Amino acid sequence: MTELDIDPLLHRVEQALAEDRLPAEIFNDDALFAAEMDQVFGTCWVFVAHESEIPNPGDFVQRRIGVDPVIVTRDGHGGVNVLSNYCRHRGTQVCQTDTGNSRFFKCPYHGWTYSNNGDLVGTPNMRGAYGTPLDAKEWGLFRAPRVDVRSGMIFASLAAEGPSLEEYLGDAAWMLEMLVDLHPKGMRVAGPPERYKLKSDWKTGAENFSGDAYHVGTLHYSNEQIRIIQGTKANVEVTRLYDFGSGHYSINMPFTEVAGPEFTFWGYGAETAAKFDLSGLDEAQQHIVTHEPPIIGNIFPNLSFVRAPIPLATDGQFTMQMAVATIFRQWQPIGPGQMEVWNWQFVWDFQSEEESLASAVAGQFVFGSAGTFEVDDTVAWEGAPKAAKSPWMKREDMQFNFEQAHRSVEREPDPAYQGRGIKRGTGYGEHNQLNFYRHWLRTLRFGAQPNTAGTFAS
Ligand code: FES
Ligand SMILES: [Fe+2]
Repeated sequence: MTELDIDPLLHRVEQALAEDRLPAEIFNDDALFAAEMDQVFGTCWVFVAHESEIPNPGDFVQRRIGVDPVIVTRDGHGGVNVLSNYCRHRGTQVCQTDTGNSRFFKCPYHGWTYSNNGDLVGTPNMRGAYGTPLDAKEWGLFRAPRVDVRSGMIFASLAAEGPSLEEYLGDAAWMLEMLVDLHPKGMRVAGPPERYKLKSDWKTGAENFSGDAYHVGTLHYSNEQIRIIQGTKANVEVTRLYDFGSGHYSINMPFTEVAGPEFTFWGYGAETAAKFDLSGLDEAQQHIVTHEPPIIGNIFPNLSFVRAPIPLATDGQFTMQMAVATIFRQWQPIGPGQMEVWNWQFVWDFQSEEESLASAVAGQFVFGSAGTFEVDDTVAWEGAPKAAKSPWMKREDMQFNFEQAHRSVEREPDPAYQGRGIKRGTGYGEHNQLNFYRHWLRTLRFGAQPNTAGTFAS
């Protein structure tokens, strides 16, 4: 397979996007999947772990960049390493566990042993087998060429050259600050990520979290029926869509307008809200977190988030106690039309054990593998790869409809908006979703580029 093989497909995608359409074939194509692993996951900055997952020297977690397993380690000097989990001898995975603490990784096949900074430190029967020791660096585990941290989130890029993490995120870093930089102690994970496989494509998850307020009133109406949330049908009217450029988006909810002036900071209780320190945020960020905070979003390619108030228990009257959940999740590609969801519950470090547990339980309740929202989404998302495989749909050249972009009534950006990125006044429009696919197409052709959209660098 060469890049040229998918050129005709990319050309069809480009033509379709120009007419607010998207060919179904992109959701289950072997050559395209291989190109995504190479050009998207092989060049972009991909989230691999949160710093709180590896606080101590020797801590490690096993993660993925695209389809490649990596080990994220904290070495003896406190440095963060993102190492390829393939033994240099025959490719066996040297780390077989998801998480732990170790100074070394010993390959189970022939016993080559690597330090937690990736160096090769030993080979069994070295004298008989090799005579003199192999070079520790030359035969160490491959390292992700670039690793960087933003707001406690560890990202890695498999490309030696390309935009820095700051250039890559651009205005999305400004959005990230609003989510996790509200307190000097920051956030931590409540535990390891829950993981589950779906017969769906990673792009569908990213597209949905980038801007799909439209589906909430239909697909998630079940949650209104069981009184988890109110006003699902009005959701698309009242939400605001933010576009931070280069595949980075959020959906924001004007809580103070829809639920009253008391409902600030995503609905955190007064006691918790009083602990937040907004002094590091600019005026626009302060206004947003207070009045219409981001509730869902995506950082390209595959890191999404949810922050929302969730009822802890229902009394049937919508007067129940709430907990605010923060979830970060990754849409991990496995193969064409298959992915795995990795789902982390995040809590504030300053919260008590009881408050943290309440947040994590609330998050699992809605977006765990059996969560009340998750079960709706995961069934719906299986359609696209099935359609992509269908001989009949191939004959019909099936294309998905994104025509809200030019048909929705209120589609222009908000001219009064002073913050970074672009803000639109309703959840209609499918602009974020279309821009997600435009950016995905650009990345397939040119690899990761600096984010020059919005007001950050333009
Ligand atoms: S494959 Fe790892 S030591 Fe041989
Ligand atoms: Fe959904």
